[in-house]
Amino acid sequence: MDYHHSLNLIKESQFLISMTPVRGILEIGFSSGMNRSSTVLDLCCGYGEMLKIWHDAFGIRGIGVDICGEFIRQGQKRLAEYGITDVTLIESDIFQWDTEEKFDYVCLSGEEFGGLENTILLLERFMKPAGKQIIGTRYSKCDNPPQELIDFEGELLSLKQINDLFARNGYFITAMYSDTHNEWERYIMWSARRHLEELRKDTKNMSQWEWCRKWYDMYFGFRRPLEGYATFVVEKV
Ligand SMILES: C[S@@+](CC[C@H](N)C(=O)[O-])C[C@H]1O[C@@H](n2cnc3c(N)ncnc32)[C@H](O)[C@@H]1O
Repeated sequence: MDYHHSLNLIKESQFLISMTPVRGILEIGFSSGMNRSSTVLDLCCGYGEMLKIWHDAFGIRGIGVDICGEFIRQGQKRLAEYGITDVTLIESDIFQWDTEEKFDYVCLSGEEFGGLENTILLLERFMKPAGKQIIGTRYSKCDNPPQELIDFEGELLSLKQINDLFARNGYFITAMYSDTHNEWERYIMWSARRHLEELRKDTKNMSQWEWCRKWYDMYFGFRRPLEGYATFVVEKV
């Protein structure tokens, strides 16, 4: 077994904060036709790892925006280590940030601002007329998700409802990559380790204790059996 290769993939995936693995991100880029002339905007980019992968594999030029200074600084450090200058990461609230540039691909993965329809409209502001949207979003595996899950997650549409919503907005899904338990385990435990680090700084913080417990309860009780995650590429005719 080439475990060095496997370890590199694991290390790389530690910089992804949502449930699409490195292979899925590659497949999305390939199927949607990314190439050296493509420009990509990634809103809520985390460490900017998706842009780094698409740059490495297809030569895209990219801009990533995220509100979290820690993620942006680590991402910038990583890009510098790899000598990548065609990807720029910017620390900002996406609602405070703006640009005149329009992009071939506009992406938002792993964050929701008032539902999927709002995401589509937000991304359209930055998209070239024939551009493509890349949206990573949670979905419900059942028709009527329990209230506990809705209270925790907000809107949780089924795949059919997601497709209907894209269609109502004039979009066709042209590439898609959905999750496995493995990606959820990576994300849930990455987040759990960060929550526990916070708790260790102040072990008397009762709301942090509660949050740590709730994180596991929600995952094993509701999210694992009932929730999925998929990344979609959508485009108009
Ligand atoms: C679940 S992570 C997904 C990160 C990345 N898209 C990925 O797939 O690896 C959600 C990201 O949204 C960022 N975020 C949340 N609200 C934001 C806002 N208003 N403006 C910019 N970034 C925001 C968080 O800091 C976090 O990095």
